[in-house]
Amino acid sequence: MTTDIHTGPGSSGRNAPLIEVRDLVTSFSTEAGRIKAIEGVGFIVRKGRILGIVGESGCGKSVTALSIMRLLPKPSGVIERGEIRLRGQDIAQLPVEGMNHIRGRQISMIFQEPMTALNPVHKIGRQLREVFDIHRSDLSKAQARTACIELLQKVGIPDPESRMDEYVHQISGGMRQRVMIAMALAGKPDILIADEPTTALDVTIQAQILQLILDLQAETGMAVIFITHDLGVIAEMCDDVLVMYAGKVAESASVKDLFSTPKHPYTQGLLRSIPTLDSRRKTILPVIDGMVPSLFDLPAGCRFQNRCPRAMPICETEPPPLYRVGSGHAVSCYLYDNIKDESAGG
Ligand SMILES: Nc1ncnc2c1ncn2[C@@H]1O[C@H](COP(=O)(O)OP(=O)(O)O)[C@@H](O)[C@H]1O
Ligand SMILES: [Mg+2]
Repeated sequence: MTTDIHTGPGSSGRNAPLIEVRDLVTSFSTEAGRIKAIEGVGFIVRKGRILGIVGESGCGKSVTALSIMRLLPKPSGVIERGEIRLRGQDIAQLPVEGMNHIRGRQISMIFQEPMTALNPVHKIGRQLREVFDIHRSDLSKAQARTACIELLQKVGIPDPESRMDEYVHQISGGMRQRVMIAMALAGKPDILIADEPTTALDVTIQAQILQLILDLQAETGMAVIFITHDLGVIAEMCDDVLVMYAGKVAESASVKDLFSTPKHPYTQGLLRSIPTLDSRRKTILPVIDGMVPSLFDLPAGCRFQNRCPRAMPICETEPPPLYRVGSGHAVSCYLYDNIKDESAGG
């Protein structure tokens, strides 16, 4: 028996989920056939919380985010199954017009590469005003301009008035990221999805942008889904964490529990790969041996079996279900099969 980690308070009440993803399956048609990029992904984000999604490159983090935003490349990417409940409303198959009311106002997303969201041919001020025109049509032209300047100020852009008349190629990568954050926040979303927003930036700027997101989160009370391949960033930013492996959830827990009692052998391996203060000077980090299986050639059973130091015969035949191993802590691994009864309902 498995226990659904996502059963919590219902869709009403103070602590109700802002967003609840259940059993999400997203596939792509490719020249070599249809692949499932994510399979059975589920999680909850509550008001004011920061959920981290972590995993190696290609494990399905961005596909999860793009599925929620309904921005999958068309026509190849399709949500095959599952629910994306936003304050209870399932948006997994919502028509485009419906999504246009939700994007920006309820959920916004920022990307690793700001140029995917910014337009090189328009001045920054014009791009920002367009966002205000969509979400705040009640504002006069002068009010909208003031709101733009205030927003640029809020995201830490010095001299925002003159920046309004510049083009994105005239400003630095860090400043572009701030402009993109400003655009994402213009509609006062309840949820911000940040997909590796600092990966392309140097370390100092990275720290500033992470701090900015934390400050804005604290000020607005919005929830954040923060995607990264860096567990160190998860530790600093997040309340809860979802560890993904080859398109599936390997483990989900509060950040505190994940770091103190990691359960999945993959999570344990990832944690060993984080450089400690002592080892930071060394260049070679211990990494998990082996490779992530190809989505075109997935093994029967557990997807981590070929790299797992604790694989058992059953891991080769049946995909492991999600076992509840504590309050808000679940793991997809047969090692925890025997503890299901004592922890169920806890
Ligand atoms: N447009 C696409 N067409 C086909 N396959 C895709 C596409 N986008 C993503 N995928 C597949 O989905 C997997 C997960 O991708 P992604 O979510 O971008 O990984 P990451 O965790 O690095 O963000 C990739 O390994 C790739 O095989
Ligand atoms: Mg990605």
